[in-house]
Amino acid sequence: MTTAAAYAEFAARETRGVSPSYERLSIAVSRDDEVLALLGLLPPAKRQPNLLFGVIRFLGGPVGDPAAFHDYTVANWPVIEAEMRSRATQTNEAGRCAILLPVLAALPQPLALLDVGASAGLCLYPDKYSYRYGGHRIGAGGPLLDCAATGMPLPAGLPEVVWRAGLDLNPLDVTDPGDLAWLEALIWPEHAHRRARLRAAAALAATEPPLLVRGDLVEDLPGLAAQAPAGATLVVFHTSVLYQVPPPRREAFVRTVRALPGHWIANEDPEVLAYPALPAPPDGVLRNVLALDGTPLAWTRAHGQAITWFG
Ligand SMILES: C[S@@+](CC[C@H](N)C(=O)[O-])C[C@H]1O[C@@H](n2cnc3c(N)ncnc32)[C@H](O)[C@@H]1O
Repeated sequence: MTTAAAYAEFAARETRGVSPSYERLSIAVSRDDEVLALLGLLPPAKRQPNLLFGVIRFLGGPVGDPAAFHDYTVANWPVIEAEMRSRATQTNEAGRCAILLPVLAALPQPLALLDVGASAGLCLYPDKYSYRYGGHRIGAGGPLLDCAATGMPLPAGLPEVVWRAGLDLNPLDVTDPGDLAWLEALIWPEHAHRRARLRAAAALAATEPPLLVRGDLVEDLPGLAAQAPAGATLVVFHTSVLYQVPPPRREAFVRTVRALPGHWIANEDPEVLAYPALPAPPDGVLRNVLALDGTPLAWTRAHGQAITWFG
C-alpha cells in the first residue's frame, strides 16, 4: 500500500467518528505531495500516521488545522524525522482491560499475568480498575473503564492477580516524565477522557510498578513465563501488538505461546492474526478480535470502548 493510501485508509477506518482532527489531517496528508515525499525518506514502518501525528504533538506542533500542520511539518522536518526514527507508537491503553476482563474473570484464579508488548504495563492492572458495561458495574478503584458490551457474558467480579510482568522491546516507565509525555502525545487530540485515564492508571501503576522486561516476544517470552509462580494460572496476553511484528515473527510467536502452559489471550487486528472463520463485523470500523487459546470470541474496538460477543 502506498503511504498516501495508508493515510486515506487511516482516515476512513480508524479516525472517522473518533477523531475529527486526525481524520482531517490524514486526508490532507494523503493528498500532500510535499509531506508524502518527506515521509518517503523514512523506512516504511516509520511512515505511519499515529507516529507522525504523535511526534508533532510531542513537539508542540499544530494538529487542528491541516495548512498549519503542513507548514510546521515542512519547516521542522529534520527534528520531526529524528524523533520519528527514534520513537515508536507505544500507546498504552488501560481501557483495553475492559476487553480482557470477561475472559480473565472466567479463568481459574489466581492469575499470573504476562503482558507481551506491554509498553508501560498499564494493562497489567485489570484487578485494580473499575468497569461499567452499560448498567453493570464492577470494582470500585482506579479509573472507571466504560465499555459498550453486546451479547457478552457479564463478568461476575474482578480477577485475583498474584503476579504481573510485561515484556517489551522498549518498556516505558510511567514514573519518567519524558515517557509519560510521549504516552500523552500518542493519545488523539479530542480524547481528553483517555488522557485523564492514562494519568490515573499511571499514578496507580507507580504505587506498585510491574516487572517490565526489555526483550523480544519470541526470544524472551519462555524465560519470563518460567518466572511465573506455581499455583497460579499463567495468562499470556497481548493487545494491539502484532501489527508491529513482521509476519514470520508473528508465526514464531504463536508457536512459542502455544507451547507454554496456561492460557493465551489475543486482542489483535484479524488481518494480522487471522482466524479461519469470523462472523461479519458490526460495521466498517476497524476492529480487533478477542481470542482465548486461539478461539475467537468477540469483535472489539481499538481503545476498549466496545465489545461485540460472537453469537
Ligand atoms: C501499540 S503498543 C500496545 C501496548 C499495549 N499492549 C496496549 O495495548 O496498551 C505495541 C507495543 O508492542 C511492543 N513491541 C513491538 N514489537 C515487539 C516485539 N518484537 N517484542 C516485544 N514487544 C514488542 C512495542 O514496543 C509497543 O510498546
